[in-house]
Amino acid sequence: MQKGHLLYEGKAKSLYATDEPNVIWMTYKDDATALNGARKTAFANKGRLNNQISTLLFHYLEKNGVQTHLLETLSETEQLVKKVDVIALEVVVRNVMAGSLAKKLGVAEGAVLAEPIVEFYYKDDALDDPFINEDHIRFLGLATLAEIAELKTVAHTINALLQERFKAANIELVDFKIELGRLADGSIVLADEISPDSCRLWDSETKQKLDKDVFRRDLGDLVSVYEEVLRRLTA
Ligand code: C5P
Repeated sequence: MQKGHLLYEGKAKSLYATDEPNVIWMTYKDDATALNGARKTAFANKGRLNNQISTLLFHYLEKNGVQTHLLETLSETEQLVKKVDVIALEVVVRNVMAGSLAKKLGVAEGAVLAEPIVEFYYKDDALDDPFINEDHIRFLGLATLAEIAELKTVAHTINALLQERFKAANIELVDFKIELGRLADGSIVLADEISPDSCRLWDSETKQKLDKDVFRRDLGDLVSVYEEVLRRLTA
């Protein structure tokens, strides 16, 4: 497989064409951004750690019946993925009150939610990824009613599987963001990545933060907590 021209440069990953029209070459970068890109810092090894963690979680999800875009992990920072038509939504699932929801509702962080909460954000940098509802999604033509129902079902399935996987590693899955895309036949698959960049992960006992909040809130060394997540997942 030949790596072709740059198709898209994101905040934490870049996508390249390949000599195969349905295959994309994805590289993980060391950059971390916060405040929708307003703050940016490079952390040596972050790309490698996210690639390794995301690969491990995508394989686990595939093994448990979740379709994903991952074809092959090529190197420490590179993957081959299926070309998908990415749905311009960030689907967030929450198990514990934290982050923007805690702020919006004026509730303290840390309360375990009786039921997981699923939220949709419109992926649009210029608009700062606004929170939107299902009628907005249909107005924007991002997904049909049936697809929205499927997105929610997939989000809940992934949440239940990931909660179990992280729990075994003594990590509480507080919340996470996923992105989904359509294959040529219209079927919906998990795309993008699942890593400490896109999840809130707390030590089950001490509640120490083991995710990108370490960078967002200036709480210490980001790379050493990502290493700790990988270590626990592979222990
Ligand atoms: O900031 P907020 O509380 O809404 O984030 C919820 C979850 O979604 C967090 O795990 C966060 O890391 C993730 N997220 C993300 N990318 C964004 C926004 C949120 O990965 N652009």
